Amino acid sequence: MTNADIGLIGLGTMGAALAMNIADNGFDVAVWNRTTSVTREFANNAGDLSSKVHPTDTLQDLVASLSKPRAIILMVPAGDPVDQQIAALRPLLDDDDMIIDAGNANFHETNRRARDAGDLPFLGIGVSGGEEGARFGPSIMGGGKRAYWDRVSHILIAISAKYDDTPCATWMGNEGAGHFVKAVHNGIEYADMQMIAEAYGVMRDGMGMVPDAIGDTFSAWDNGTLDSYLTEISAKVAKATDPKTGQPMLDVIVDAAGQKGTGRWTVIEAQHLATPIPAIDAAVVARNLSSQLDKRAQGEALFGAAPLPITDISLDDLEGALIAGKIICYAQGFEMMRKASDQFGWTLPLPDIARVWREGCIIRSKMLNDMADALTNDADRNLMFAPFFAGLLRANHDALRRVVAAAAIGGVAMPALSSGLAYFDAMRTARGTANMIQGQRDFFGAHGFTRVDGGTGHHGPWGA
Ligand code: 6PG
Repeated sequence: MTNADIGLIGLGTMGAALAMNIADNGFDVAVWNRTTSVTREFANNAGDLSSKVHPTDTLQDLVASLSKPRAIILMVPAGDPVDQQIAALRPLLDDDDMIIDAGNANFHETNRRARDAGDLPFLGIGVSGGEEGARFGPSIMGGGKRAYWDRVSHILIAISAKYDDTPCATWMGNEGAGHFVKAVHNGIEYADMQMIAEAYGVMRDGMGMVPDAIGDTFSAWDNGTLDSYLTEISAKVAKATDPKTGQPMLDVIVDAAGQKGTGRWTVIEAQHLATPIPAIDAAVVARNLSSQLDKRAQGEALFGAAPLPITDISLDDLEGALIAGKIICYAQGFEMMRKASDQFGWTLPLPDIARVWREGCIIRSKMLNDMADALTNDADRNLMFAPFFAGLLRANHDALRRVVAAAAIGGVAMPALSSGLAYFDAMRTARGTANMIQGQRDFFGAHGFTRVDGGTGHHGPWGA
């Protein structure tokens, strides 16, 4: 009987890629899939790695082919399938065997599963990087008891992406901490993607640029401050041609964005934490709105087509707007993690989070190295206020302002960039307008307010 180092359940796209990565790093991996033919096909296609890949036909076989104490990775769809798989697996395992949920779980469910597991080892890990990352090196965010992480970290570190020689795999904290960090990663991913889509909209509709030229622009930006995976793939998406029609690929894709729910979880949680992440929120709203195709067509018929040509901003302005927007949405994500860390009694390692996001994950970008440095210097400061990023914002917030203003006049919807600008402006305004809110609350509900000259619980002379 094989003594495989680790087991893996679920040979979908991500699970299959992760299993190959594990084998490629010299570990013996026993695999099982609900449909046996999938397991067999996977093993038959393992090529040079077939000696490291051990297909099993039943859960009992899987368990029997693992060295003890066992560790088994679940790569099954989030939600009920994870609970069902744990329920089927647990009775077959010894008390010191570990289950590792490496799917995109909601961190509340991971908290519950960790508590339900009691003294039985359980880890919830966030894995980012899509299929290619899973195969050749993802970014890994671990959650659960530190001792459990330490037991399998040699495997997880080996399969992770490396930035220079530093592995992009770190333990984030207890229970659902790893899946929480992954959810925030996805929230930032949504905002970054939405901001890029908004810049694309200005170029396409406001400036009348064709996809190929838009792709060249993204490519040029990818050589500068905006150097990132998402900028790079946006250039490739814009430049791709549809083999069926010969048209630009972008022109044949329906503008209704899908979502599996991780961005939504992030904004719901942000509301519970009362931590403002408006650019991320706007990005989720934009995806929801994008699916209302019929209603948007009715609106266009009713109010006339927008957008109008935009002539008073340059491509440099657009690049500057994206630089400012990117800093703002990442800053919101890190603010949310700081708040959650306090609230949930975790000690989320913010500088290390920036470090594990430098390679392997979807939001990897040049800026993340500077973010890691900024957070190392002061983990409690809003990233926008760190000297390096404050300098970039000073240099670029006017561009963001010009772009948002021009888009508003031209009728190009810009939810993420404009809410990012509003966040920036609110965060640089020492005296805002919530005194009016407090006055209103006190007027109709006698809720009381704090006076600028001291003292809480004051009331206004409203009734007089
Ligand atoms: C990643 C991705 C990955 C996936 C999500 C988001 O980090 O590798 O975020 O987890 O793309 O499922 O997908 P949606 O856009 O469908 O929410």
